[in-house]
Amino acid sequence: MAKSATNQLARRDNTVSMAITDLSHDAVTEISNSLRPLLADVFALYLKTKNFHWHMSGRHFRDYHLLLDEHADQIFAMSDDIAERARKIGGTTLRSISDVASHQRLKDNNEETLTAEEMLAELRADNLHFTKSLRETHALCDEHDDIATTSLIEVWIDQTERRTWFLSQILTEI
Ligand SMILES: [Fe+2]
Repeated sequence: MAKSATNQLARRDNTVSMAITDLSHDAVTEISNSLRPLLADVFALYLKTKNFHWHMSGRHFRDYHLLLDEHADQIFAMSDDIAERARKIGGTTLRSISDVASHQRLKDNNEETLTAEEMLAELRADNLHFTKSLRETHALCDEHDDIATTSLIEVWIDQTERRTWFLSQILTEI
């Protein structure tokens, strides 16, 4: 066998032995492409929740300020796991704030005069929308038997529904 052909075979064997997942190339691409906007939404929702935590006012200030801080911590905790799932299966993820801006589906809010009710209602809607996006990624991962990602997403759906529940309950009282 020619030397170049032997080298090529050796390289191919090496590629196989270096594989970090048994998921197909298409599965890795599709799952990474679904995790990327999910991560961008996490950063958008995290910053909006912090924004409202910082700019909250009114007679329930303390309760809402503290609640949104708890929510922000929970949202931020998802970010590393989402990015590292993409890397663990051999995909790539977000690299910068501009990357977040080009992939986020949840809208920023730079308004300076929002009431407490408007802030909580917007977070409720965003969390609801985020649950829908989590379900879509879950369905895709399920199609490809990516059990690890689906099981992480199941926990995040439960957490997101809990945040939505709290916000909804508060909004019925305002
Ligand atoms: Fe704070």
